[in-house]
Amino acid sequence: MTEPTNNLFLKALRGESVSRPPVWMMRQAGRYLPEFMEIKKKYDFFTRCRTPELASEITVQPIRRYGMDAAILFSDILVVPQAMNIEVEMKTGVGPWLPNPIRNANDLENVIVPDINETLGYVMDAISMTKEKLNNEIPLIGFAGSPWTLLCYCVQGQGSKNFDKAKELCFTQPEVAHALLQKITDTTILYLKEKVKAGVNAVQLFDSWGGMLSPTDYQTFSWQYMQQIIDALKDDTYVIAFGKGCWFALDTMASSGAAALGVDWTCAPETARKLTGGNITLQGNFDPTRLFSPPREIKKMVTEMIDAFGKDRYIVNLGHGILPNIPIENAGAFVEAVKNYTVAT
Ligand code: CP3
Repeated sequence: MTEPTNNLFLKALRGESVSRPPVWMMRQAGRYLPEFMEIKKKYDFFTRCRTPELASEITVQPIRRYGMDAAILFSDILVVPQAMNIEVEMKTGVGPWLPNPIRNANDLENVIVPDINETLGYVMDAISMTKEKLNNEIPLIGFAGSPWTLLCYCVQGQGSKNFDKAKELCFTQPEVAHALLQKITDTTILYLKEKVKAGVNAVQLFDSWGGMLSPTDYQTFSWQYMQQIIDALKDDTYVIAFGKGCWFALDTMASSGAAALGVDWTCAPETARKLTGGNITLQGNFDPTRLFSPPREIKKMVTEMIDAFGKDRYIVNLGHGILPNIPIENAGAFVEAVKNYTVAT
């Protein structure tokens, strides 16, 4: 397969010089889009994930509207625990809900490393269908949650402000925590390898709750498993590692073999460059709530952000997912500002 016509995103991942940096937004396929809400009215969350026609349609919706430089497959990080025999529901008003959380060695016995095509074949079908719709015009990103972030949900049983039950398991029954993390890691490696075979051009690991851990505990309970995944995938595809609140680990991440590192908005571009040695591609880091600012201000801030990161070895993105209540024209201003970017002389 030849590279997509628009290969800005892949060029940035390789560290090649570009006329302007590529742009996409975390959670770009989502609830701020009226066309997404139309589909959401008719089908529940996991039906949308499991039906390739729906998942591929939702994936291309933001591309049709804004023309980002990469698409990210509509799915969820929680389809992995589901495939591992852990029940996951998406409850309105609550979010992710796991009725039988993992709290001890006994619970862990039922958790399996599944056959990927048997349990997650629908994701591969969604990838093939999306690739057809994209017509090789832009790259497609596949993703997975980090083992630590998935453990947070599997143990806590739902979202949380501090994931206290997840951390309690790590600190009182570390052998159970590590066994669960290893099972998730093994499954994730198999899963991402299948996604690459199915046609994704890059993969992103979301460590959304890595910042809950101290720098030392981060290495023990999160990073060593992320590193295993990167080691297993880096020769097959580009890996982007995103850790929210994990600026303290950026130096370790920079020498991991990841092609790019995600940065959240609490770390200044100059600091992120300094911490990572200046040679690795960085992705981020616009404060998602800054998309509430008027479009003119958004455009000015985006231009300044690109100047601060530099146009090369850089992928414009938010510092975390777009919020459901962002006006659609403000999201448009974000993408447009990047497309109109020219280097200041
Ligand atoms: O980025 C994209 O456009 C691709 C789609 C995507 C979704 N979830 C769709 C989704 C991606 C990349 C994810 C990843 C994901 N899921 C993460 C990691 C990224 C992050 O934001 O930190 C996490 C922690 C989850 C777990 C999860 N799924 C949560 C916390 C929620 C929100 C629950 C709520 O009610 O607010 C979901 C649901 C979800 N996943 C939605 C979407 C569009 C919204 C609910 C819906 O569509 O019905």
